[in-house]
Amino acid sequence: MCLIMKVLVLNILGILLLAVLQPGHAKTHHHTFIVEESPYTRLCSSKKILTVNGSFPGPTLYMNKGDMLVVDVYNNGTQNITIHWHGIKQVRYPWSDGPEYITQCPIAPGANFSQRIELSDEEGTVWWHAHSDWSRATVHGAVVIYPKNGTEYPFPKPDDEIQIILGEWWKSDIQAVLDQFLASGGDPNTSDAYLINGQPGDLYPCSNNDTYKLTVEYGKTYLLRMVNAVMNNILFFSIANHQITVVGTDGAYTKPLTSDYITISPGQTIDFLLHANQTPNHYYMAAKAYNSAGAISFDNTTTTAVLQYAGNYTPTSPLPFPVLPAFNDTNASVNFTGRLRSLADADHPIDVPLNISTNLFFTVSINLLPCNNTNSTCTGPNGNRFAASVNNNSFVLPQIDILQAYYYQINGVYGENFPSIPPFVFNFTASNLSTVSQTANRTTEVRVLEYNETVELVFQGTNLVAGIDHPMHLHGYSFYVVGWGFGNFDKDKDPLNYNLVDPPLQNTIAVPKNAWTAIRFKADNPGVWFMHCHLERHTSWGMEMAFIVKDGNGTNEKLMPPPPDMPKC
Ligand code: C2O
Ligand code: CU
Repeated sequence: MCLIMKVLVLNILGILLLAVLQPGHAKTHHHTFIVEESPYTRLCSSKKILTVNGSFPGPTLYMNKGDMLVVDVYNNGTQNITIHWHGIKQVRYPWSDGPEYITQCPIAPGANFSQRIELSDEEGTVWWHAHSDWSRATVHGAVVIYPKNGTEYPFPKPDDEIQIILGEWWKSDIQAVLDQFLASGGDPNTSDAYLINGQPGDLYPCSNNDTYKLTVEYGKTYLLRMVNAVMNNILFFSIANHQITVVGTDGAYTKPLTSDYITISPGQTIDFLLHANQTPNHYYMAAKAYNSAGAISFDNTTTTAVLQYAGNYTPTSPLPFPVLPAFNDTNASVNFTGRLRSLADADHPIDVPLNISTNLFFTVSINLLPCNNTNSTCTGPNGNRFAASVNNNSFVLPQIDILQAYYYQINGVYGENFPSIPPFVFNFTASNLSTVSQTANRTTEVRVLEYNETVELVFQGTNLVAGIDHPMHLHGYSFYVVGWGFGNFDKDKDPLNYNLVDPPLQNTIAVPKNAWTAIRFKADNPGVWFMHCHLERHTSWGMEMAFIVKDGNGTNEKLMPPPPDMPKC
């Protein structure tokens, strides 16, 4: 080989080696989201639904940790819309976060908005969804975040990966369901089906051809990335004859957790490994509601999909069906969720705040308000209107978004008096609570946090009107779930049992019925950050609030300026 050739070969080898050894530089991914109505037929009935790029569920976006995403959103529909990046922290840049009237005004029909989303430490599965009215019912999709180039999963590389998106379907128009629900003051009409990857499955009338099928090869391992995009229910999910191994949740890795079933909250994502190690056959996988409130009606149907092994054989008849916990089995729910643990290894260290500067104690309650309909009564208990609250504040969305009001110092949009403790203390989880305490205040109050405060927030579920699980979600952060327990929180005893070693890092946590859950986070992301129950009907009733996290002193600790095309109010 001549010298020139040798030099050339060595150089090429060197470049290849560099490419392998050096973690990849952040890449920018461009996407266009056209929000428009598209016709869809499920359960023998057709309607137009709001979609992104005509697809339902919407497009999955793929990227690596630390990448940048630019999404040009065009609203070609007839109603206002916003897009939220659930589980992406939007460091110093709440302008792209999406919740309407919290961080932006909605994108009006005919308008567009270019959202810039910079990933930080998220790795695993997160998702995007509409964050205006109830349009997220059909406007949602998964976001897959691979490890940085040159790094690996903390588990053996799966042979293949599949997204499993759980959804909820009403035969009627979702806006009509919302309008009716807001007018009646009662519970919303229950949905007609749950969906797996957009399909109800063959237990529903007229859905024989509408079943999602997942083909696997015997001996292989699959990574299933599950998103619960359902509106109003926590779900149980299981696959007949197969155990699954959870390896991640909410865009962070967990210690491997083996289970026969999963409990997954709306908003939550769960990544799990499925080993195709059973006799080749077809097996049902199924999901149905976990509903801990006693008296309310809910969609009690079961959605199915089929796991089918490739090969030449005749499937058994009937197909094996999974065992799912009963709809009100709170123990089954907490036995799963309470076993999640951070991976907490050398490559994935945890950073739980140990010295707490700010203790917050927030009750989460269902409430009742006077009906206030001029010519009809409400269909809530005793003719009242349902409401919901955090520390007895039932949140009212302002007309101008809070972020804009904060940034440009516009007065009169929100107050800064959100209480750090409940305005009145009672036996929160008692069985016969007086009706006096059931009324809530309708306010637009935020809680201001200084940069780098270390926060412990205890959610206390109450038994007002009806105790039920509340999947609480915080924007702009992931938090460590350091403890939970049934009954009332005891500030002297309960912290002694906190897990500060490997608590799971999540952005959505189900506070069990008549129980408390403690989370910790460090307020190091300046901005305006929404916090709410991810059951859509509870959000509509006001179970939400916002944090304003102030700028720090360093140049990298301040809000970045808004983009020029922020939607106008
Ligand atoms: Cu999944 Cu406020 O969001
Ligand atoms: Cu709730």
